[in-house]
This record gives sequence, structure tokens and C-alpha cells, in this order.
Amino acid sequence: MSLLTIKALKTYFYLDGEAFPAVDDVSFSVEKGKTVAVIGESGSGKSVTALSVMGLVDAPGRVVSGEVIYEDQVLTALSEKQLQAIRGKEIAMIYQDPMNSLNPYIKVGKQIEEAIKLHERIDKVSLKTKAIELMREVGITDAEMRYHQLPSSFSGGMRQRLMIAMAIACEPKILIADEPTTALDVTIQAEILDLLRKLRHKNQMSIILNTHDLGVVAEMADDVVVLYCGKVMEITSNKKLFDKPLNPYTQALMTCIPRIDDRKRRLETIKGYVPALTKLPKGCKFSDRCQHAMDKCHLELPELKEIEVGHYSRCWLHETDAVK
Ligand SMILES: Nc1ncnc2c1ncn2[C@@H]1O[C@H](COP(=O)(O)OP(=O)(O)OP(=O)(O)O)[C@@H](O)[C@H]1O
Ligand SMILES: [Mg+2]
Repeated sequence: MSLLTIKALKTYFYLDGEAFPAVDDVSFSVEKGKTVAVIGESGSGKSVTALSVMGLVDAPGRVVSGEVIYEDQVLTALSEKQLQAIRGKEIAMIYQDPMNSLNPYIKVGKQIEEAIKLHERIDKVSLKTKAIELMREVGITDAEMRYHQLPSSFSGGMRQRLMIAMAIACEPKILIADEPTTALDVTIQAEILDLLRKLRHKNQMSIILNTHDLGVVAEMADDVVVLYCGKVMEITSNKKLFDKPLNPYTQALMTCIPRIDDRKRRLETIKGYVPALTKLPKGCKFSDRCQHAMDKCHLELPELKEIEVGHYSRCWLHETDAVK
């Protein structure tokens, strides 16, 4: 049975009295100890999906329908107070921008202590010991000394480790990591991924990993959800996705990975831009940029269908078989 299930989730933003879908009928589930990667270009709805799970979508946004089910609780039906008991303790999140999540004026050790205290009654001495242990666990050397420092004396990679320490402080069953490595250089990125893998194994933790980096996906994910303009375009296992991506959007994303043997290492991007929420095309959301688009694609949205066993894709070309 799944630990977390997202069912037909819709999160809209209300701008000038009109509703715009940032997350539009998204469903997927996460099993215990497994990692689900949610991928897509900037603006595809990865963060809004994560915030919807946490119950942290603020006005002008709102979860308008669908359910998030954790174990046997429907999170989307809980009050803010009930959610607070789950947030951080059962499901924790590493937010996309670490500098916004760390208070620049408070010692990092104290900030980790705050994260522990949210869900644990613990005396002062044990609290400090635990904060220092957490700092060590995420790979911060000289933790006892660094406990007293402010976030500004930490590098980007170290700040990300602090964020992870705060997120795992109460040993959550699910960790949502929103672009945990995007701002970091490649070596540090590898270290952070190693750390997440170690924690996943040690705590039997599930991870929802938001990223637009397919290299990270290939290394970390069990299952992959491909999002575009708030719609699931493709969903399957890591192996199936990389063996044979079925959706033209995923295929286009994959041609954007720079190859090791490519001397120029030029990063190609998909032509055109992700449309703004207020300017979503009718029909398939990717139709404006898709090199296979037919007339029908501009008019009608295709459904997400199981094209091969355990491999779902949303594309009119599947009806004609041309995409394979
Ligand atoms: N507070 C907000 N008000 C209005 N629109 C918003 C707000 N937050 C997000 N959006 C819109 O919702 C859509 C999804 O945004 P989201 O932040 O989830 O994208 P993302 O996939 O996380 O992108 P990135 O890779 O840049 O982090 C975008 O069109 C974005 O402009
Ligand atoms: Mg985001």
C-alpha cells in the first residue's frame, strides 16, 4: 500500500477574479522507502504540487479539489492545527530557496533546535546534543563550534545540509526535496545526493524529489512523474522512462541533457517557453512547442493513458502510434 497518494489534485491561482490552474488533475503515489522524482521545466508546477501536499499554498492560490492521503488520513480535509502535527514530523520539506528558509539573524544550532522542539518535548541539554548530532549526521564538521554561527558563514552546500538537518530533525517518513541541488556546483551536488541516499536508507524514508535535472532523476528515482503546465505528461518507473520515453515532451527534455562525449557540451533547450498560467494553450499544453503537433493537439487535451504496462503518457500521437 502507498504511504502517500495524491488524487486528482487541482491547485488554482486566482488573479483578477479568474482561476488559473498551476496544478491540474495531478495524481501519483509514493511507497515506503521509495523515491518519486517530479520533473519538468521551470513553471511546470513542481513546487505548487509540493506545497499543496504540505497544506502551504497561500492566497491567491488554493487547492480547489482532489485529495492528498497520507496513511489513512486525508490531509486535504484536515484543519491547519491538525496539519501542524503532521508537517515536519511525518512529512517534511526542504524548500527551494535555503536562504529564505534560514533566519539570517539566528545561530544555526538554535534554528535546528526549533525544528526539533516543534514535535518533541526535550530538556535543554539533550536538545543541544541532538542539534549537534544532526549537524554531524548531515556532514558538517566542527559541529560544536559551528552550532554558534549564523547562516551567512556557511557556503551554499553547507546551508543545504543545514536545511536537510532541520527537515530530518523529527525523522519524517516522507521528505519532499524541492530542487535540493539546483544552486550547487556538481561536486557538492553529488555529495548532497549521497547524503539523501544515506538518510533514505537509514530511516526507510520516502522522498519526493522535485528537479529539472534528468541526471539527478536517473541516479535517485524509483518512479518519475513528468509535469508540464500543471499536467502529468508521463508517469512510469525510472528504468522505463529512460529506456523508452513515450511522450514528446519527455523526449524533448531528454535531448537537452548535455552528453559527456559532446565536446561542445552545449545545453540545448526545448524551443519556445513554458507559457504563463494566464496564457495556457487550448488542447495539449505542449502543442505550441511540440514538433509532432497535429491540428487536433491544438484543440483537445489528450487523456493520460496506460500505453505500455505501468507506463502512462498523455499524447494524441499514441492513437496513431507515430510517437513510438
Ligand atoms: N504565488 C503565485 N501567484 C501566482 N502564480 C503562481 C504563484 N506561485 C506559482 N505560480 C505559478 O504557478 C505555476 C507553477 O509554478 P511552480 O513554482 O510550481 O513551478 P516549478 O515547476 O516549481 O518551477 P521551478 O522549476 O522554477 O521551481 C507557474 O506558472 C507559476 O508562475
Ligand atoms: Mg519550483
